[in-house]
Amino acid sequence: MNNTNKYQKSIDCLNDAIGKEISTSLQYMYFHVRMEDAGYEYLAAYFHKVAIEEMRHIEEFAERILFLQGDVNMNPAFESRQITEVPDMLRLAMKIEQSTIDSYNEAARITSEIKDTVTHHIFQSITQYEEQHLDNFRTELQNMTDYGDKYLALQSIGRSKSIAK
Ligand SMILES: [Fe+2]
Ligand SMILES: [Fe+2]
Repeated sequence: MNNTNKYQKSIDCLNDAIGKEISTSLQYMYFHVRMEDAGYEYLAAYFHKVAIEEMRHIEEFAERILFLQGDVNMNPAFESRQITEVPDMLRLAMKIEQSTIDSYNEAARITSEIKDTVTHHIFQSITQYEEQHLDNFRTELQNMTDYGDKYLALQSIGRSKSIAK
């Protein structure tokens, strides 16, 4: 058996990314159910949407690994945290996105060095999504800072309105 794969570094970067995406997706799904339970309709829906987006990233990374004839390590990189205060949730989400962006930029550099253009491109394009997540979480945290509990109250009113329809 040939145990030297010229794309091993790419496979390692991709598996590392999969671990992060799994943990991130689960963390956001936890935030989603917490926020939904608390009645924060829009924020809950946004975390649900992003959790699903991170799941799609897992699929894309995993398909690439199989194409490179590696195997997928489908395991979380870190455990979910039971955070229940919305500003703390947003702060953790921003931290996760920033560290993901940093590590995908590094993966883009490594995959470019070993001339794996397609994996390089996958990291580039997924990093754009992560930057968008970071930007949106930052905006939400800013809204919380500017409007405080009123912002969350408005979201609860939004849900009451939609129930009443
Ligand atoms: Fe992602
Ligand atoms: Fe993300």
